[in-house]
Amino acid sequence: MNEPFSQAERQALYRVMELRRDIRHFSSEPIPTEILERILEAAHIAPSVGFMQPWNFILISSLQIRQSIKTLFEETNRAELAKITEQERKELYRSLKLEGILEAPLNIAVTCDRERDAPFVLGRGAMPEMDLFSTCLAIENLWLAARAEGIGIGWVSLFDRPSLEKLLELPPNVRLVAYLCAGYPLEFRAKPLLEEVGWKNRLNLANLVYHDKWGEISPLFGNEKNHPSL
Ligand SMILES: Cc1cc2nc3c(=O)[nH]c(=O)nc-3n(C[C@H](O)[C@H](O)[C@H](O)COP(=O)(O)O)c2cc1C
Repeated sequence: MNEPFSQAERQALYRVMELRRDIRHFSSEPIPTEILERILEAAHIAPSVGFMQPWNFILISSLQIRQSIKTLFEETNRAELAKITEQERKELYRSLKLEGILEAPLNIAVTCDRERDAPFVLGRGAMPEMDLFSTCLAIENLWLAARAEGIGIGWVSLFDRPSLEKLLELPPNVRLVAYLCAGYPLEFRAKPLLEEVGWKNRLNLANLVYHDKWGEISPLFGNEKNHPSL
């Protein structure tokens, strides 16, 4: 249990993180049950505030339900497109495929039960949103495990959340955190799609790491000039 990881194990972990992608293009090949179970188990071992484990995973395969969900997506997507004023940017947005709801063999709605263990959740009192953050960690575990298994995940957030929650018949105490499309991808790209198409580049990490307080650039990543004392 306390043995250090081998170099190969460490490298594998970083490789999975680096090569994880958001996927919008899927093959229809189903996810084998044992792989799906392993991915969900990976999600379930995520950390959570007060060990609350506030998540549920709704596995959605019904084409009829997914069609209704796709309609919700289209409504929101149209509204988002209308917000973009610059013509070139608008055309680029229009060309983007931002979901794989119908092509992916499986969709997964990840929810957070905000009243699990209520009224007292260890550690959540001062920051009530910690249960939502915990659910996001389960999602990241799921995403990475899926990548290691060769399965692609695409997170779709272009929804009017209350409408989707109603469609999925969530009780009032349960909040939708993520709507995921899952399946074998047509490809895992080397870079984020949004970077490839010129929407946005990865930021320079050196400018994002501060020292002691907000805005003080850290000496890490070759920024020592800013901190002669360190
Ligand atoms: C909270 C969240 C919501 C997202 N929503 C969408 C979405 O609605 N549609 C989409 O195509 N991608 C969505 N993405 C994927 C991001 O665009 C993607 O993670 C980012 O461009 C970086 O690419 P990568 O995940 O391949 O590294 C979402 C990602 C996150 C974390």
